[in-house]
Amino acid sequence: MNNIFVTKPYLPPQEEYQALLPNLWDSRHLTNAGVYHQKLEDELKSLFVADSVSLVNNGTIALEIAIQAMGLKGKVITTPYSFVATANSILLKGLEPVFIDIEDNGFNLEPELIEDACDAQTSAIMPVHVYGLPCQNKTIQEIADRKGLQIIYDAAHAFGIKENGESILNWGDVSTLSFHATKVFHTFEGGAIVSPHSELKKSIDSLRSFGFEDEDVVALGTNAKMNEAQAAMGLVLLRHLDNIIGLRKKWHELYIELLRGIEGITLLNIPPNLEHNYAYFPILINKPYPLTRDQLYDKFTEQNIFPRKYFYPLITDFSLYKNYSILSKHKIPNARRVADSVLCLPLYPDLTEKDVERICKVLSA
Ligand SMILES: Cc1ncc(COP(=O)(O)O)c(C=O)c1O
Repeated sequence: MNNIFVTKPYLPPQEEYQALLPNLWDSRHLTNAGVYHQKLEDELKSLFVADSVSLVNNGTIALEIAIQAMGLKGKVITTPYSFVATANSILLKGLEPVFIDIEDNGFNLEPELIEDACDAQTSAIMPVHVYGLPCQNKTIQEIADRKGLQIIYDAAHAFGIKENGESILNWGDVSTLSFHATKVFHTFEGGAIVSPHSELKKSIDSLRSFGFEDEDVVALGTNAKMNEAQAAMGLVLLRHLDNIIGLRKKWHELYIELLRGIEGITLLNIPPNLEHNYAYFPILINKPYPLTRDQLYDKFTEQNIFPRKYFYPLITDFSLYKNYSILSKHKIPNARRVADSVLCLPLYPDLTEKDVERICKVLSA
């Protein structure tokens, strides 16, 4: 039986990518804001209807550069239910992550807990649109306005998502994206910083290129440039985006059809006002389902199917974070409950009907 992994990067027909390569051989303009880089920035700006988009070489550095460009200091309120890069970016920039719990009935940061976790050193909130489900932006923005905080959304999962017809990437002060190979849209590795404050772009673009402004270096920048081979992949994949998301949606819907009604299994609920990207298919496993999440995971792997405990462990349970005695410790029962019961089932465009049926059979048998 063939292996089915949780994800598999999408690749376009090879000729389409190859067609963009002669330009690189002719021009030798391989990086440093080349033609493809500029074109991809422009195309994403129109796609997101955004005031400013800056490409970078991954989603982690996107967070780091955003933190620096926004001038954040002190503490940043965030969630333990995310990929570790969310919190690492805060520590890497010399700030302190303050972890608060997630919603009772969801996966995202609980806005009601923000105010109590704030103190005079808090400068920002970093919520994550987990699995592309939008955070409660209106409430978060009201709190941020009242407390004088900035908002930086980790939107690594939220490529192309619209709520009530509008891109959620324009929420808050900054949103960051990951274009890692396994994401809905990718550039092998890559990322972007999206902001409604177009004046931030100059500083972001300087920070991603060593802090240069013309001949001078004006800030402590890094090297976060996206190269032309990456940008070319992005340009080709944009042409396939409808197909990529359409196939993901098809497998999502088949999962729902085959798994609906199994007691103890909670399926992802996508509200009707959302244009989703179907990046992940998380399920929650609880009683009366006869197996625990870990037993179910083992049953899958025995059959060469490799779902992912995503996110597990919680960021706060990693050794690095447990050992940080200076980090504030708030109670996080919801995050813990979800991390202990979640399993992301395989979801990628190249799945087949047979694959999905084989996966669902493990769950229902
Ligand atoms: C929520 C979240 N934030 C940040 C990142 C980091 O992105 P990258 O892998 O492009 O550095 C990821 C990547 O999976 C992610 O899922």
